[in-house]
Amino acid sequence: MAQYSFVDHSYDVVVVGAGGSGLRAALGCAQAGLKTACVSKVFPTRSHTVAAQGGISASLGNMGDDDWRWHMYDTVKGSDWLGDQDAIEYLCRNAPAAVYELEHWGVPFSRTDEGRIYQRAFGGMTKNYGEGPIQRTCAAADRTGHAILHTLYGQSVRNSVEFFIEYFALDLIMDDGVCRGVTAWKLDDGTLHRFSAQLVILATGGYGRGYFSCTSAHTCTGDGNAMVLRAGLPLQDMEFVQFHPTGIYGAGCLITEGARGEGGYLTNSEGERFMERYAPSAKDLASRDVVSRAMTVEIREGRGVGPNKDHIHLHLDHLDPKILHERLPGISESAKVFAGVDVTREPIPVLPTVHYNMGGIPCNYHGEVLTKVGGDPDKVVPGLMAVGEAACVSVHGANRLGSNSLTDLVVFGRAAGLRAAEIAEKGAKIPEPKAAWTDPHLARFDRFRNAAGSEPTARLRLEMQRAMQEDVAVFRTDETLQSGVQRITDVYHRSKDIGVSDRGMIWNTDLMETLEFDNLIGQAAVTVASAANRQESRGAHAREDFKDRNDQDWMKHTLAWFDPKNGHVSIDYRPVHAYTLTNDISYIAPKARVY
Ligand code: FUM
Repeated sequence: MAQYSFVDHSYDVVVVGAGGSGLRAALGCAQAGLKTACVSKVFPTRSHTVAAQGGISASLGNMGDDDWRWHMYDTVKGSDWLGDQDAIEYLCRNAPAAVYELEHWGVPFSRTDEGRIYQRAFGGMTKNYGEGPIQRTCAAADRTGHAILHTLYGQSVRNSVEFFIEYFALDLIMDDGVCRGVTAWKLDDGTLHRFSAQLVILATGGYGRGYFSCTSAHTCTGDGNAMVLRAGLPLQDMEFVQFHPTGIYGAGCLITEGARGEGGYLTNSEGERFMERYAPSAKDLASRDVVSRAMTVEIREGRGVGPNKDHIHLHLDHLDPKILHERLPGISESAKVFAGVDVTREPIPVLPTVHYNMGGIPCNYHGEVLTKVGGDPDKVVPGLMAVGEAACVSVHGANRLGSNSLTDLVVFGRAAGLRAAEIAEKGAKIPEPKAAWTDPHLARFDRFRNAAGSEPTARLRLEMQRAMQEDVAVFRTDETLQSGVQRITDVYHRSKDIGVSDRGMIWNTDLMETLEFDNLIGQAAVTVASAANRQESRGAHAREDFKDRNDQDWMKHTLAWFDPKNGHVSIDYRPVHAYTLTNDISYIAPKARVY
């Protein structure tokens, strides 16, 4: 397209996204001597990892015995047997080394009296294969993500990762099924950039902003997932969207599960600790899907608190103020600012809020992106990798355990760096980019930049978010999901008549939000279609019309493709990896759910 030109760059590896997984991957590539760029739409230390509170799971055994096999058992069970067990073994056995590495790089973990890394209890984390709760979550007060992100950014700069900050990634450069780089729009001067590389690593996070109420930053629009869909590749297990039990009522901000790990508990309007009925053993520290459903049932049955009986109370007021000050300072402040509550005296009003996407870009445990071609469900897409919340490895399966996300970021970020060092050649010649590879990127960009339709982006976005919140919620039925399909399809078709009022190239937030909305609508479409398709209840996908888990028919990953030209979603499946990585642990067979 004649009116646009690119500034060209050439790297061995380009990482898109500068959260925990992107920085850890970039750092690994740079340490291996690969010329590495990191492209990010926000300043790295503003990436959403900064908001992770409670901690990072690893079987260090600082607060009593622990074993990576127990951690693996909990993660498989937490995933409701949808997780790939080879990848889960990789995660859990490599977690302690990944945490010590962070410690040595400078993460200021909280300490025990003996000077060891402090570990707290988190939902679903147990000792001896489900016997009782364990303290496995390593914490830096309730600002663990903040501490990790700043440390990884410092180390990345030290290791000469080259940062391209406030560059909005547009699309993957694809050449006959091979990824050759990525294009981006530099927000502060309006220039367009073409990054050619041997490997692109997507670390673009989740798409929480597809929903109305979420703990995710406004930047969490799943830009990498959407680029993958536009490249004609599938996303996996998108129906599994995690609701965190304790978002602040009204504001949606996160109150860490660590609050319950330190002894906090939930009550209904009768002052009852109702989790004792739903999960007699794990109680308030049952996994998040269980707690979110229990809270929703309490509210539905009229036992919610507040004038409208539409939320639940989280009590910390019985805890020693010194503990609150030392271990939960961040959420004490959030409760004050966003709910006007002094946690030493009053309960916090909370409500289940969208928090995490278990689904994403299908990958193996090296971070290589997979697609299904013919009979091969594990076909590696050359040149393309993914890590972090954007990726679906799949270690979280149908439901992620709290504090397994930060572990996922650093363990698989490191794994991707190791794989990149094996398959990329330092300084290898990169093919000259061809206009035909990037003309469709420019056409999309230009279409939105000059869109003069009657539908403002903000209105379409709000309608999409409300449809997802109401129809693809904690509980689902065929009726709600079909309504969701209709509403999202309607928003998608109306988006052909979208209107953007700013035609500029520099700091055009109207255009950026429109590109983000376009990224979100494709992900919303595959999410609701995948949810309508899965006729069982598993993990975070709770169907009231199919209440049981059905391993016979549904112990398989969903793959969903989206056609941006007509909004059509097509669905296929990949088998769950029902095998482990080594003989150090055997396959953990499905069991009935007992909490
Ligand atoms: O509750 C929390 O602190 C969140 C942790 C997580 O999602 O892993």
